[in-house]
Amino acid sequence: MHETMSEVLPPPVKVESGETVHLKIDGREVDAQPSDLLLEAILREKDIPHVCYHSELMGPIQTCDTCMVEVDGKLVRSCGMKVVAGMNVVTESKRAVDARAEAFDVILGNHLLYCTVCDNNNENCTVHNTALAMKVEHQEHAFTPKPYPVDMSNPFYRYDPSQCILCGRCVQACQTVQVNETLSIGWELERPRVLWDGGMQIGGSSCVSCGHCITVCPCNALMEKSMLGEAGYLTSTPQKTLDKMIDVIKAIEPEMGYGAVMQVSQIEATMREERIKKTKTVCTYCGVGCSYDVWTKDRKILKIEPLHGDANAISTCVKGKFGWDYVNHKDRLQKPLIREGSGFREAEWEEALALVASRLGEIKHNYGADAIGVVVSSKTTNEDGYVMQKLARAVIGTNNVDNCSRYCQSPATAGLFRTVGYGGDSGSIEDIGMAKLVLIVGSNTAESHPVLATRVKRAHKLFGQRLIVADPREHEMATRADIHFRPKPGSDLVWLCAFSRYMFDHGYAKTDFIAQHVNNVDEYRKSLEPFTMEFAASQCDVPIEVLTEVAEEIAHAETVCILWAMGITQHVMGSDSSTAISNLLLTTGNYMKPGCGAYPLRGHNNVQGASDMGAMPNNFPGYQSVTDDEIRGKFEKTWGVTLPAKVGLDNHQMVDGAYDGKLRAMYLAGEDMISADSNANHVAGGFERLDFFVVQDIFFTETCRYADVILPGAPALEKDGTFTSTERRIQRLYQALPELGDARADWKITQDIANRLGGQWNYTHPSEIMAEMASLTPLYAGASFERLENYNTLQWPVHPDGTDEPVLYLNGFNFPDKKARFFPLQFREPSDAPSAEFDLFLNNGRQLEHFHEGNMTHRVAGINEETPERYVEVSEELAREREIESGRWVRLTSKYGSLRIKVLVTARVVGKQVYLPLLSQEGPINVLTGSYTDSSTDTPAFKETAIKMQLLPEKGSNPLKPLNFRYSGKPTPQTGVEVERKWKRADYHMPGSTKLVQIQGQPTRKA
Ligand code: SF4
Ligand code: SF4
Ligand code: SF4
Ligand code: FES
Repeated sequence: MHETMSEVLPPPVKVESGETVHLKIDGREVDAQPSDLLLEAILREKDIPHVCYHSELMGPIQTCDTCMVEVDGKLVRSCGMKVVAGMNVVTESKRAVDARAEAFDVILGNHLLYCTVCDNNNENCTVHNTALAMKVEHQEHAFTPKPYPVDMSNPFYRYDPSQCILCGRCVQACQTVQVNETLSIGWELERPRVLWDGGMQIGGSSCVSCGHCITVCPCNALMEKSMLGEAGYLTSTPQKTLDKMIDVIKAIEPEMGYGAVMQVSQIEATMREERIKKTKTVCTYCGVGCSYDVWTKDRKILKIEPLHGDANAISTCVKGKFGWDYVNHKDRLQKPLIREGSGFREAEWEEALALVASRLGEIKHNYGADAIGVVVSSKTTNEDGYVMQKLARAVIGTNNVDNCSRYCQSPATAGLFRTVGYGGDSGSIEDIGMAKLVLIVGSNTAESHPVLATRVKRAHKLFGQRLIVADPREHEMATRADIHFRPKPGSDLVWLCAFSRYMFDHGYAKTDFIAQHVNNVDEYRKSLEPFTMEFAASQCDVPIEVLTEVAEEIAHAETVCILWAMGITQHVMGSDSSTAISNLLLTTGNYMKPGCGAYPLRGHNNVQGASDMGAMPNNFPGYQSVTDDEIRGKFEKTWGVTLPAKVGLDNHQMVDGAYDGKLRAMYLAGEDMISADSNANHVAGGFERLDFFVVQDIFFTETCRYADVILPGAPALEKDGTFTSTERRIQRLYQALPELGDARADWKITQDIANRLGGQWNYTHPSEIMAEMASLTPLYAGASFERLENYNTLQWPVHPDGTDEPVLYLNGFNFPDKKARFFPLQFREPSDAPSAEFDLFLNNGRQLEHFHEGNMTHRVAGINEETPERYVEVSEELAREREIESGRWVRLTSKYGSLRIKVLVTARVVGKQVYLPLLSQEGPINVLTGSYTDSSTDTPAFKETAIKMQLLPEKGSNPLKPLNFRYSGKPTPQTGVEVERKWKRADYHMPGSTKLVQIQGQPTRKA
């Protein structure tokens, strides 16, 4: 009596139906929801064993048989069926208890209990805890090792087949949550085991080292290598000695029973609490906002344990799970540095801060406050960002303050401000999972926002979500899409506008919605006149049939989410194309309800927060205009100063200002502008012209070369604070490690500078900074460290009573009349189109395992082992035409600079488009990109660069290493663990079932 897995898998979001199911558990009447698994209903009443069941997200797996109960007199797996009204459930009958004992005994035949010397014995080992809970004293199925070696080939984790209990949690996670589809279980093997790509070793398989499988493994079969020999008091003992100790224990076990042995291991596990510190933190890489506990022993980072995060639950990507070596890297800046000639010397804080204050003071005195610019980091906390913009405005007296969203996300924010009134995602990641159709435009989501991408892959694979991708390159999401089309770079605005016109022309526009909720309809419709499908097809180089098919899909989908990123924003029409997306969503009524809306995917962990905090030349925190007298008056009152009323310079203008002598000094934190801004040579020239340049960072970056003073900041693990993720989710991070050497939390450094410039600040903790910010910022009004305690999160706007808005616009748009605004648009040609000389189009973007230019990830040993060098992707056609193969060195030259790089030939790119991952080792990609910008936001048109490629004589090895998942990985997609194949094995019988036992002709072990 079981349902198939697809029948019992939970939907993307569990909808409480309001109906209640009444059933009886051990004689007690209980209520449940119809979508509840029976096991979930039982666990609300009492504990029963359940080894393979992990969570609602993972759904039923049904491999372990330890959750057997009697329902109306029949033995069933309680995780394998939903509740049914009137069920009579008995959990403690002898049959059920014996069946569970038998099931667990089978598990012990697959797993050697050596808990006291096991690195997984940390009070969260499901096998250990189940043995204790079931009071196991002896086992009948003797343990026999499996005939497979331990697989150590992945840099980050290992698989020990002999310890594997074949529960299939890892497979379920890989196939249905991460959806990388690497894992399966070879149920037909004489001794089943977990398989990577059907039987490869882990290193070199399609495994992307996301860590889902390790996180959910209920024992030590899959473990982080960083835990091995580190977690336990005895686990660093040499293996040979350990083996002898285990043999001794096993010899006395039949007489003593497990009880005493398990008690000892339990005591040892409790003792570990003293040496292993578990601290909640938030990922410091991308904007998805994964949160997790970091386990540390002194400064050693033992592991990352995700479980409770609102954005990610059990999910991480390789960077969040394993990308932490950089924190303790020998390259960390640990002392202030002061320029001396062409080099730097170490200095004490006192000297460095005094120099910073006196030079900034002098420059302000001689040239005025607007001769100084401040750049806030998108990696540091909201509190760090708030105090830096306050320093610029309230202490220095300038609005010359910005953050790196200028390079990526400002156009998206502008497009949303024009149309719907808030510059953030309309809903949550959960809404993206719920949408009936997801359209991804110019975003390599699986590599740039990996955990968010898993929710789309899952909904598409399991729940029938439609997926359409518009991208010049065939990245993973494009490979998975129902429709992938490749618009000519820079032409997205045209097809987006044409779709809007198509909706009006064919009666698909949601006219009732528009009439009630959107202004400016007539002007907008008129602006759409040139945008016929024929025009779009010719401008975008996409067949009209494909465009029509996509438009029809959008028109007929109940709910649509549009996700976009730098493939849209980093064009001269970035703001307009973002606006066109929002216009299309308004035309089709895809706002004001769950499961739809606009999702500009924020790149850095706190790029949303940096802008929210007012690190912008035109806005105070919460997007309150610096030119609004009333608002400025509010800040002046609280800060006790007169504030500048003129909009300041953005990053781009600051560099130009350095050229024309308007800007004399800069204070820049946590931002490698040389690598991140476009036209690196131009930026470097600007920095060279500054009279004084202060850089605050954790490493000596390219940008540091131009500094006069370098101040050592602290990474996320070394400070308290909050980040705000792409879904507007504000989350707390706690200090896990002390600041390294003389490094200091960034807010402390900024406060020291402010006070030396007469600021009289006295913050003692970031919570005080948050309190001040919230008091001045309606968007964050109800946010506080108390409300954000531990894993609690809030999605702005946060109202004074602490309520938040996971889905925006449910009660109207963020304009005075609550109505959205259509924003008419015109098309312009891209800036730097290929020509006879510069005949190739250069595309670029992030890579899964490296973050941006790689300042942090290049200092992670395992990531470097898998992906040590960069390359340029060249299409098969171009490779044939130029007679080049992977590994060939070439020189790429644009109008702005040139670099030498190896080629990787791939079908992901077509024709004369080449693709360069952002990570740089020998000079950033931005030496190639020019100075064209989006006219509304000054965001560089990184994605509009024409180049030429010159073949160099050297031929090297393939830049992809055999260990890399792209090299030869071949995923093995399946719906889940396929437990039915286990049930078909001749040696399987369901514990407690006599029927199967008789068929197999084997005696029953228990009555
Ligand atoms: S991709 Fe690799 S690390 Fe991630 S769940 Fe699959 S096997 Fe595990
Ligand atoms: S490796 Fe997979 S199947 Fe084996 S015990 Fe761990 S989660 Fe279960
Ligand atoms: S990099 Fe992004 S997806 Fe990966 S763990 Fe961090 S927040 Fe999550
Ligand atoms: S928990 Fe039900 S079969 Fe494993």
